[in-house]
Amino acid sequence: MIPDGVIEEIKYRNDIESVISSYVQVKRRGRNLVGLCPFHSEKTPSFTVYPDSQSFFCFGCGAGGDVVTFIRRIENLDYREALKFLAERAGMKLSDEYVEDDAAKLKMRILEINRTAASFYYNSLVSDAGKGALRYLTERGLSNRIIRKFGLGYAPDSWNALLYKLKDSGFSEKEIEASGVVIKNRNGKMYDAYRNRVMFPIIDLRGNVIGFGARKLEGDGPKYINSPDTAAYKKSRNLFALNFAKNDKSGNIILVEGYMDAISLYQAGFENAVATCGTALTAEQARLISQYAKSVTISYDSDEAGIKAARRAAPLLDAAGVRVKALRIEGAKDPDEYIKKFGALRFKKLIEDSASAAEYELDLIKRRYDEHTNEGKIAILKESCAYVAGVANPLEREVYAGNLSKELGVDKDAILRQINEIIRRKSGEERKKSMRDLKIFDPEVKSGRIVDPDRAKHIKTAVAQEKLIACMLKYPEYAEKIIAGVDIEGMP
Ligand code: UTP
Ligand code: MN
Repeated sequence: MIPDGVIEEIKYRNDIESVISSYVQVKRRGRNLVGLCPFHSEKTPSFTVYPDSQSFFCFGCGAGGDVVTFIRRIENLDYREALKFLAERAGMKLSDEYVEDDAAKLKMRILEINRTAASFYYNSLVSDAGKGALRYLTERGLSNRIIRKFGLGYAPDSWNALLYKLKDSGFSEKEIEASGVVIKNRNGKMYDAYRNRVMFPIIDLRGNVIGFGARKLEGDGPKYINSPDTAAYKKSRNLFALNFAKNDKSGNIILVEGYMDAISLYQAGFENAVATCGTALTAEQARLISQYAKSVTISYDSDEAGIKAARRAAPLLDAAGVRVKALRIEGAKDPDEYIKKFGALRFKKLIEDSASAAEYELDLIKRRYDEHTNEGKIAILKESCAYVAGVANPLEREVYAGNLSKELGVDKDAILRQINEIIRRKSGEERKKSMRDLKIFDPEVKSGRIVDPDRAKHIKTAVAQEKLIACMLKYPEYAEKIIAGVDIEGMP
């Protein structure tokens, strides 16, 4: 427990005005300061700092409190951690007894174990044992600089190399087990959790190693193993590479599925990519992202699973107040492969074009009408739906429907239904048109002179025959194939 007197002193030495202005650009307005809220996305400032009462409040999202609340939210810390953070900021030395209860102590020990493990993995990657793993990473296109930057490593093919290293470093079995890098089986035997795998440390915003992703090199077992949740790591609250992406100034974050995608993008110059660690995006992660970016470009794998996952992520991000864009990767399975095949420039273009062309178009439509009248709204909706129906990517359509719904105050599902109805009608028309095209080449059908007198009796067969004949007339090169494929004798 930190005594109240110490808490008061921490607050006293961290003037709210100076703390907040190192995160938010604020302008003086009378006695107060105003700026754009860092906790939600806004265009006009509703975030207000009150130096008199040492508090802040946002009229847009309702966030408010004192300097500790502010630091908790913006640095993603718990209460005690925020106080520690502010004490350090003010150059105060907190006595250890204030800071460490048992849980906090264990958490710190786990973080130390993780750091020791990460450096063990790194050293083993650059040792003889890690030659194969290093070659693997190099062959996947990673430079030594990037390998070091991300602290990648290699877990040797051993059941206890790390266990002994940790014991030698003075950690107790209880602490080692709690860290998750070593597993204790039912008989009480302990063994290294990751063996013969490439290691991806997961690093939080303060530079702590909180967990690992581990990719297999060969053999059986899952492709990736992810750290379990521990006292120091909650998967649902962290994102891989956010420690780098948070420094990016673009205001945009690229959300990818895999560790390798995030790293490849970073190497190619996109330092704003983050990945979930083997789970679907959570609401907490979406809120975390919203503290560092105003928009997110979802850049998941191009397969069915990726599209589905992106579809589930979009509304969470939307609810967190970030603008969602979705990009469709074509000709490659994921961003990593895409960059390798087509280069960083093409990917940049993909990002820039993601949604932006459509957004521009939709904006033009909106400007043509007055959205404050019912007629205007209806006209905007009608034209926008027609436009969105022409967008090929269903996920993108969903995002636009969400935007339209928010801007015009109309139910999103209703908008989507309208869009899908237009798509359905269009594809029906296209089918009919192609049928019409075929018939034009069939003079008998066109003129109404039907050669088969029994047509009405076998209407389905007759129609099929007519289509086949029309087809042979239009595409004579297929005639032989068609004739070979039908049983002419057996026809009515
Ligand atoms: P992918 O199977 O798409 O792999 O999994 P990847 O990222 O392209 O990996 P590489 O390029 O083959 O190395 C995407 C993400 O899903 C999680 C991991 O977080 C992975 O990065 N995953 C995948 C698992 O958690 N377990 C698995 O067995 C596979
Ligand atoms: Mn991949």
